[in-house]
Amino acid sequence: MKHLITNAVLLTLGGPDEPRRGEQMRSLGLIRDGAIFMEEGRIRAVGLSDLVLRDPDAKKARIHDADGRIVMPGFVDCHTHPVFGEPRLEDFGLRTSGKSYQEIAAAGGGIVSSVRSTRGATESQLTERLLEQTYRFLECGTTTVEAKSGYGLDKDSELKALRAMRHVAAGSPLELVPTFLGAHAVPPEYRGRSGEYVDMLIKDVLPVVASEGLARFVDAFCENGFFSRLECRRFLQAGVEAGLGVRIHAEQLTRSGGAALAAELKAASADHLDHADETDLAKLREAGVIAALVPGSNHFLGHRDFPDARKIIDAGVPVALATDFNPGSCPCWNLQEVISIACTRMGMTVEEAIVASTLNAAHALGLGKTHGSLEAGKQADVIVLSCRDYRELAYWFGVNQVDLVFKKGGLVHDASGPRRA
Ligand code: NIG
Ligand code: FE
Repeated sequence: MKHLITNAVLLTLGGPDEPRRGEQMRSLGLIRDGAIFMEEGRIRAVGLSDLVLRDPDAKKARIHDADGRIVMPGFVDCHTHPVFGEPRLEDFGLRTSGKSYQEIAAAGGGIVSSVRSTRGATESQLTERLLEQTYRFLECGTTTVEAKSGYGLDKDSELKALRAMRHVAAGSPLELVPTFLGAHAVPPEYRGRSGEYVDMLIKDVLPVVASEGLARFVDAFCENGFFSRLECRRFLQAGVEAGLGVRIHAEQLTRSGGAALAAELKAASADHLDHADETDLAKLREAGVIAALVPGSNHFLGHRDFPDARKIIDAGVPVALATDFNPGSCPCWNLQEVISIACTRMGMTVEEAIVASTLNAAHALGLGKTHGSLEAGKQADVIVLSCRDYRELAYWFGVNQVDLVFKKGGLVHDASGPRRA
């Protein structure tokens, strides 16, 4: 079906086909009295109403009157861990009684407790839970999600998680970009033998992931107590040789060399970056690596400090925002909440946060040519907000301000009726 949205305040984010950096991160391509015409999954025309409505076919479309509301590209969430067995409510209880994330992990909770529940779930249970989760992302306006494995940590369980993603990708309108995060934590059976675990990933799991086309990226957690820079390099390099792109959990809890490694391997993104210093930022800028910031995890872990987004943007590194949705450090799938936190806690402007959660996030997934902005020919991933001033997106926090969601030109979520009645 063709869809036409009229009376829109458009945030097109149109412009050069590359990640935005510095001052460019403030340009939203705002058009008042705008319209957008979607046909066969793509944007056929977008811009001033007068121009769009000249297309004779536009009259044959189903019309949605935005009535002055904001219409923008669907959010792209470029860092999530959505495949896991159970929520970590025990860990949360311990944290609210004063234990730190690292203390809980050292005592057998943390990532390893998600590994237990994920190993215990069947492929169809994981598929069912992930499928349900995709609708939560969609109703919050997220139309594309990067999804990591990393709670299986043995051959069968990692493959099970990636296959669950493949089933879901075939059955949900949410677009999934799968990442093999084999090097997320050292599983209990390899305790003290992280190098051997990495060998096993490279020898036994990666070849299957690559030959079955189960992932587009590899990822590793470069951190004290998890994987060293050398182990990450070995795993990620093997991923590159198998034809996969690279992303890295870098400088999250301590400065561990992940950012420099991301630059060396020309990673698609270096994520977290709480402890990145000026040298790291210079390397990322030089190598064209996107900084994917996930302040929802700082918020949920009760950290006083946040990544210094201001410094990162001012250093000329393109910034993307993501939820980091996962059961341990960020059980939140609503990127609108992250946009608000980015503005209040990381010193980003609303404009920068919008660019970071759409176009730059699309570039972080290698999808910048087709996703992340409203331009003729691009995939028609479009959302209509309930607000009329885009600054409201970061201002009203903890709420869902998305009324309509279109994915590949199809209407997949409509909350405009009940909420406005
Ligand atoms: O991005 N840093 C490692 N991974 C996740 C946390 C995962 C978990 O606690 O389950 C993160 O914060
Ligand atoms: Fe993460």
